[in-house]
Amino acid sequence: MFTIITGAQFGDEGKGKIVDILSKDYDLVVRFQGGNNAGHTVIVGDDTYKLHLIPSGVLADARILIGPGVVLDPGVLLQEIEMLKNAGIRITPEKFGIDAKTSIIMPYHIELDKLREQERTRKIGTTARGIGFAYIDKISRDEVRLVDLAYEDAFLAAMDELAVRKERAIEELGGDSGVVRASIPGYTEYGALLRPYLTDVSYELNRALDSGRSVLAEGAQGAHLDLIHGTQKFVTSSSTIAGGACAYLGVGPMRVDCVVGIVKAYITRVGEGPLPTEQHGEVGDRLRDAGGEFGTTTGRPRRCGWFDAPLTRKAVHLNAYSEIAITKLDVLTGIDPIRICTGYELDNQCIEYPPELSSDLARCVPVYEAMAGWDRDISDAKGFSDLPKAAQDYVRRIEEILGVSAKIISIGPDREQIFYAK
Ligand code: GDP
Ligand code: IMO
Ligand code: MG
Repeated sequence: MFTIITGAQFGDEGKGKIVDILSKDYDLVVRFQGGNNAGHTVIVGDDTYKLHLIPSGVLADARILIGPGVVLDPGVLLQEIEMLKNAGIRITPEKFGIDAKTSIIMPYHIELDKLREQERTRKIGTTARGIGFAYIDKISRDEVRLVDLAYEDAFLAAMDELAVRKERAIEELGGDSGVVRASIPGYTEYGALLRPYLTDVSYELNRALDSGRSVLAEGAQGAHLDLIHGTQKFVTSSSTIAGGACAYLGVGPMRVDCVVGIVKAYITRVGEGPLPTEQHGEVGDRLRDAGGEFGTTTGRPRRCGWFDAPLTRKAVHLNAYSEIAITKLDVLTGIDPIRICTGYELDNQCIEYPPELSSDLARCVPVYEAMAGWDRDISDAKGFSDLPKAAQDYVRRIEEILGVSAKIISIGPDREQIFYAK
């Protein structure tokens, strides 16, 4: 069984929570792209885990893996391992593996990310974690891989070749190039600490699938932050969609059994870029407060808006979801009416699918339909029939619009606040 989970909007849909819950049924859980721009929250009782790199299946018995399509900040990973250790969760090489070919985020990538963003007239709103510049180096074949970092001689040889070029790049953007060489000793230590985790992820996954074991692939970000198909240029630097999982992990598409889309009951976005249904007034504030919509990684307030059917329809195309999980339905409690954007008006035409270009998306005026809200607290519902009729109608309407059934409904941040709809 090979299942892929991706975000259907602009990230922060609640992927971490759903991956944690589903992981108990899988033998391996693997992150396939992105880096510590991601922040995936898992809440179990009084304990909250904010995971940036470690797969959200860490609390289950599954083996957890980081695939070679991830860009890895080793300092952040080691801090995360430490955080888990302090919480009583031991991360050993039996439990956790990282692909040898994983690209390392170096301090110069972070510096370049910040400098480039400062220089841009139209900002992207990056998380300033060096993500884009680490991917640039992978594409240009100037990356430092985990296997290079893990062996001092290979690492020093790579840095010999790269340091001058990176210093020049930083200086060109007016930055302090001292960071390039200053970081080398610390990174050598990181390499030694991470060496025991080296593995071949594609091989592990294919062998596991061959022997009938199950694999859950965890995406980061969301469909509209996809490097190619998202709202360019306000996107991240990796493929965030289901097909990306196959390419990044080295598992053929014919092996995929299930693709789960995580769909927030409304929409949020952090950073710049078009968000047609964004609400600036009372509704936006209410969604942000009730949903705790502040970035898990950067703490930035998330922009909030009504459910956007055109964007989510496109996410269904990009991912071919076999099912969806609707999250944060509880956040809509008390809002009446609730609006759903069913289409846009653009140049005096009504359209049901987003225009290809972000510049056109930014000009789209949402067309809304109003649905009755509900007042009753739904955060302890144990099944679909426990939901007020208006909440049931809302879920059914989303399913109808997307043509995909919602198998999971999440009605609060805690692990227990979830039910299977059918
Ligand atoms: P991810 O990046 O997709 O994993 O999502 P984040 O963890 O960044 O953001 C989702 C936030 O919503 C986290 O704070 C979760 O604890 C929280 N959350 C997840 N599901 C629900 C839900 O159904 N209801 C509420 N109220 N909060 C939720
Ligand atoms: P998870 O996995 C929400 C956004 C940033 C910025 C853009 C590019 O938690 O859903 P980058 O640093 O990647 O170059 O920034 O992408 N972004 C996210 N927004 N959730 C995320 O991850 C994100 N990762 C990146 O805010 O707009
Ligand atoms: Mg997040």
